[in-house]
Amino acid sequence: MTIFNEKIDRLKTSSVKWEQTKEIFGEANLWPMWVADMDFKPPQAVLKAIKSRVEHGVFGYTFVPPSTAGAIVDWLLKRHQWEVNPSWLSYCSGVVQAISAAIQSFTEEGDRVLLQSPVYTPFFEMIKKNNRIVVNSPLTLVNEKYEIDFASFEESLQQGCKLFLLCSPHNPGGRVWTKTELLKIGELCQKYNCLILSDEIHSDIIFKDYHHIPVASLSDVLSERVITLIAPSKTFNLAGLQASAVIIKNEELRKQFNETLSRQGVFSLNTFGLIGMEAAYREGEEWLEELIDYLQENKKFAINFLHEHLPEITCIKSEGTYLLWLDCRKLNVSDDELRHLLIEKGKLALEPGTKYGPGGEGFVRMNIACPKEDVKEGLKRLKRALK
Ligand SMILES: Cc1ncc(COP(=O)(O)O)c(C=O)c1O
Repeated sequence: MTIFNEKIDRLKTSSVKWEQTKEIFGEANLWPMWVADMDFKPPQAVLKAIKSRVEHGVFGYTFVPPSTAGAIVDWLLKRHQWEVNPSWLSYCSGVVQAISAAIQSFTEEGDRVLLQSPVYTPFFEMIKKNNRIVVNSPLTLVNEKYEIDFASFEESLQQGCKLFLLCSPHNPGGRVWTKTELLKIGELCQKYNCLILSDEIHSDIIFKDYHHIPVASLSDVLSERVITLIAPSKTFNLAGLQASAVIIKNEELRKQFNETLSRQGVFSLNTFGLIGMEAAYREGEEWLEELIDYLQENKKFAINFLHEHLPEITCIKSEGTYLLWLDCRKLNVSDDELRHLLIEKGKLALEPGTKYGPGGEGFVRMNIACPKEDVKEGLKRLKRALK
């Protein structure tokens, strides 16, 4: 039996996913398939490394040792064929924190920052909370798959955007951008002198036949204008450990970014964050391969279930991530009604599509990173809610 079938009770662990549906959805005890964490334990090597550090018993200030940087650099080379120099690395507790720090580092109040909706909510929030202006070049759905409208993208850049927030792979649509697409993005950002902030937090969970390409790895010229964000949090389910890495090749940009962190008083990483990150990147590969197989099976199961029981719902074609983006527009219900049905009749917590900006209306996002039995339960509730 695969380890991913194990059902783990997450109650009484202050789990956002399991214990905060009342705060977020107005009702407690909803079946939680919303926020993006998994109901799985990380690789044994991660648990072992953390336990061993706990047993040491002294938790004073820690720095990020060269071995952690080495684990990241080796991982990126092995998994993504990207040669990174350890000196290009900085660290943040979370990727969202890094997004905000990058916006502060590379733009001024009132500047325009580009994104592509529907997209991860904090992209909008971090731009707005930092008093910058959101410029949106929406993605287009072509044959149930998201594509970039490059004419609109170029028009947006012409408005004078200083920074482009790229979600690669894409949350919520699950697109793994191709080399052609990334090169075109790079070419246009070069032409209009726009920096690229590439959030690659989902880059390790990629389905068979697809391949994630870090945009900064495409060329020396392009790499000079890219800030890349990665983390072991999605890949190995370590979000609570709060450790992420920022990769900036351009020395001037790196200085600016590190200066922002220093101004915020950010120093090093949480002891367990860095221990977990290093163990995961060093020893987690086999576990990850098994995870990807398991998630592919869950996805297949969910799609078959929808075909059979809820044919009005279309699952957007995803190439990676453990998130299903469900097009419910054929149900002909408003977003409020949809939310009401899911919560009241289904007792099910899914992310409402409207959170992801224009283009998210009529969609919901379902997280399938849980034991197959729990995916079945969620789908049963979805059917109950909508039939
Ligand atoms: C695209 C994207 N970026 C960032 C995050 C969150 O990153 P962190 O928890 O490290 O702030 C998520 C979580 O779902 C995400 O999907």
